[in-house]
Amino acid sequence: MLTKATIEHEKLKLNAPFFRVALAPTNAEQQLLSTLKNLGKLPEGFDGQLFVPLLTHHNPKIRCLAIKNVGKLKDERFLQTLIVFAETEKNTLARREAVSAIGRLRTENAIPILTRFATDADPKIVLQALRGLLYFKKEHPEVKRVLASLAKHPNELIQEHIARESQCQDPTETAKSRNHPASPDALKNVMVCADVQEALKVMPDESIHLTFTSPPYYNARDYTIFPSYEAYLNFLTAVFKETHRITKEGRFFVLNTSPVIVPRISRAHASKRYAIPYDIHPRLTEIGWEFIDDIVWVKPDYAAKNRNGGFFQHRKPLGYKANSVTESVMVYRKKTDKLIDWNIRQYDEEIVNTSRVLRDYEKTNVWHINPATDKVHPAVFPDELASRIVQFYSFKGDLVFDPFGGSGTVGNVALTHERYFLLCEKEVEYVVRARQLLDAALFTDAEPRVLSLNELKANIAEENQKL
Ligand SMILES: C[S@@+](CC[C@H](N)C(=O)[O-])C[C@H]1O[C@@H](n2cnc3c(N)ncnc32)[C@H](O)[C@@H]1O
Repeated sequence: MLTKATIEHEKLKLNAPFFRVALAPTNAEQQLLSTLKNLGKLPEGFDGQLFVPLLTHHNPKIRCLAIKNVGKLKDERFLQTLIVFAETEKNTLARREAVSAIGRLRTENAIPILTRFATDADPKIVLQALRGLLYFKKEHPEVKRVLASLAKHPNELIQEHIARESQCQDPTETAKSRNHPASPDALKNVMVCADVQEALKVMPDESIHLTFTSPPYYNARDYTIFPSYEAYLNFLTAVFKETHRITKEGRFFVLNTSPVIVPRISRAHASKRYAIPYDIHPRLTEIGWEFIDDIVWVKPDYAAKNRNGGFFQHRKPLGYKANSVTESVMVYRKKTDKLIDWNIRQYDEEIVNTSRVLRDYEKTNVWHINPATDKVHPAVFPDELASRIVQFYSFKGDLVFDPFGGSGTVGNVALTHERYFLLCEKEVEYVVRARQLLDAALFTDAEPRVLSLNELKANIAEENQKL
């Protein structure tokens, strides 16, 4: 097998027979694949004809790498080869490479061809064609026509691309996105003792950086009794819509839920299972939360209620019931055109550096964490779960929100990691418990405060007056 170093060295000798031998289609497939992969940047004058016999190789991976290398040459003499390949190739990856290569030629002669591929049945081919066309000015009549014709394309990625292109204003310059790291002082280290729906109404737009929360699990506990599952989902949707409004551009929302069981009322009835994470998900994306990750929180076996006693005895099919040791931790981002790099760039280098996650961390989406218990609250977050979320999805000095604050775990963890917190909790008993935790916290320049709804309103109004 050829090493990268040999390839680099031989590339410099332009007319030597080395690559004629190395790229001969009769070579072993593994050797061809490795050579094609390691070719890197091709020097000017590299003989692109060497790739042509490989374009009909029976191995699609070889065809794909060969066409990619043709593309690297950016040589208009290969336009016809690229067109024929893109029109006849069956492998979708290889076709995309060919259309991308046509675009990168940046020649006016490619415009009619890219226009044709912009009507392809494969949305990825359409996107490649669109990328190629956008190398030319949007005012170019043909480019303009294609952009207009794709505005109603059924594919969501194409629609987003077109919408972004038609935005005339530079989104980096909007007033709201300025001063991204700042948050209102009136909300810093505050626990509001009120119904979250009332509290949210008074909170200013784009004022928090991260939400981590675990709402009531339908009627599993007595916090609130909802008349129906639909009413419960509507309540959560309303709270998370307002949470979206008060979240800064491109920032994260992390939701911990799990399916719940409502036990059967008698042996003559079946129990009912409600798939909360799956039912709330479409509502969240509808609001404008973009799905990012699904993390599975795994608890030890002992933490689960035993549901398979019956099956253990009778072993009859259909009667199997799994003991549930997992919960969903769904990660969303407030939808924006901006990349995460844009969010990071809003912070001083020092904040970014001191917020780096230097500890050992879980690299998969399966997080094994023991549950926590509390002497007052029946369903608290383990500190470890909240710590991971706070450290992975916020910077020092950010404002972290929990609309269903309970015993204040998120607040306590936020303070530990030098963030500010904002919590809502309607039960006085839990607020009193949270206060004990939060008052014990060190390292903060804003004293933790428990406020009524009216006090919160007054503080926000006072801060607004000063501005
Ligand atoms: C699952 S617990 C959250 C526990 C929290 N993660 C902790 O670590 O302590 C949900 C909390 O939401 C509160 N809650 C339910 N409905 C509420 C509402 N409308 N407004 C504010 N809090 C509410 C409940 O009282 C309960 O404490």
